[in-house]
Amino acid sequence: MQKILIIGNGGREHAIAAALDADNRVGQIFCSPGNGGTARLNKAENIPFHSLEQLADFAKEKNIDLVIPGAEVYLCDGAVDLFSSRGIKSFGPDKKAARLEGSKAFAKDFMDKYSIKTAKYIRYTNVDLALKSLEDWNYPLVIKADGLAAGKGVIICQCKTDAEEAIRDIMVDKQFGDAGSEIVIEEFLEGKEASILSFFDGNNIIPLKSAKDHKKILEGERGLNTGGMGVISPNPWFDNNRMVEFKRDILEPTLRGLKAEGLIFPGIIFFGLMMNENGVFLLEYNLRFGDPEIQTLMPMLKTPLLDLIESSMTGTLDEDVIEWHDGHSCCVILASGGYPETYKKGYSISGMDNVDGHVYLAGAEKVDNRLLTSGGRVLAVVCLGDNPEEARTKTYNEIKKIHFDDKYYRSDIGL
Ligand code: AMP
Ligand code: GLY
Repeated sequence: MQKILIIGNGGREHAIAAALDADNRVGQIFCSPGNGGTARLNKAENIPFHSLEQLADFAKEKNIDLVIPGAEVYLCDGAVDLFSSRGIKSFGPDKKAARLEGSKAFAKDFMDKYSIKTAKYIRYTNVDLALKSLEDWNYPLVIKADGLAAGKGVIICQCKTDAEEAIRDIMVDKQFGDAGSEIVIEEFLEGKEASILSFFDGNNIIPLKSAKDHKKILEGERGLNTGGMGVISPNPWFDNNRMVEFKRDILEPTLRGLKAEGLIFPGIIFFGLMMNENGVFLLEYNLRFGDPEIQTLMPMLKTPLLDLIESSMTGTLDEDVIEWHDGHSCCVILASGGYPETYKKGYSISGMDNVDGHVYLAGAEKVDNRLLTSGGRVLAVVCLGDNPEEARTKTYNEIKKIHFDDKYYRSDIGL
């Protein structure tokens, strides 16, 4: 029986843990720090997160078979390298490969070198040169802090004044700390976005079903950016032609590049895409499961998650072995009113167990035997349907059964 350690505390980690909890090859799961959702699973136990170093000691002592770092920050901090130095296997890129997510400048240079279709860009480490270059671009224009900035480091600028302000915020005022020592200035691409999560085993990149995230807090994709307010899968805009373009212009050259650069790892490659009349463009790589994309995909996946992870670890992935339930999946996030700005915590959550569907907890903690809100994105409700409308209708009906004060959600996910 396997012992697995999952690092993180979001809905993503609950979805991964729930899938492994249901697998009879798994004996014990530790989640660090975990959340109210992982706390409720049969085989899972939450343990505090102090440092990766301390988790490595813990993993050694407990004879952990596999570590799954959920979030990018652990990967970029070298979690995989650290566990590997102690002889413990993990699912994800080492620190070197994690730069494809951790440094936007590194990722763009990689895309450029291997002719992967992406927006035009220039890197800057010098503020004056960056400001001077603003004459030469069309607007809107995209300014990106090079490093990890918790999803906030991408600024879409409508005019030159906005762009000057963004550059000063990032490079002079260091709004994102060292992540802003370098910036990428990038052409703005119009179009529809798609998320393609895929498994990588060093030889093959095997894409999962397409997904469409909804990142803004308000209906109609307005307002502030969030960690994701809901997902519909498959992505209604990502048809077979898009898949052909994606494979030819992005997936295949990425695979060539990864091999040529020796960026080889068992893990996830999540392609953030923009689609328009000129084709499919790569906006970014993420090297971990997308949140809330994975919550949306898990209920449709028939193949045990552990099989896919193990095939990635042994270099034996095969597209034909991934089995799916037919149909569509709709995920809606229930958030705390006020998110992504200030919001209250500590409200009691009820009704979850009456939901006929899947519930993944994120900003929710178990205190004694109660579940309390503890974060901005509280939980995700996911339901399947034969068509997108059926999946949506079911999800929106089931949401009504869950109650907590200040509950907020978007009512247009998947429309
Ligand atoms: P990233 O972290 O690079 O995916 O950027 C976050 C979000 O910013 C994306 O999901 C897009 O909505 C937007 N974005 C990033 N780059 C561009 C671009 N070149 N053109 C238009 N939108 C972009
Ligand atoms: N849903 C986008 C992300 O996980 O980054």
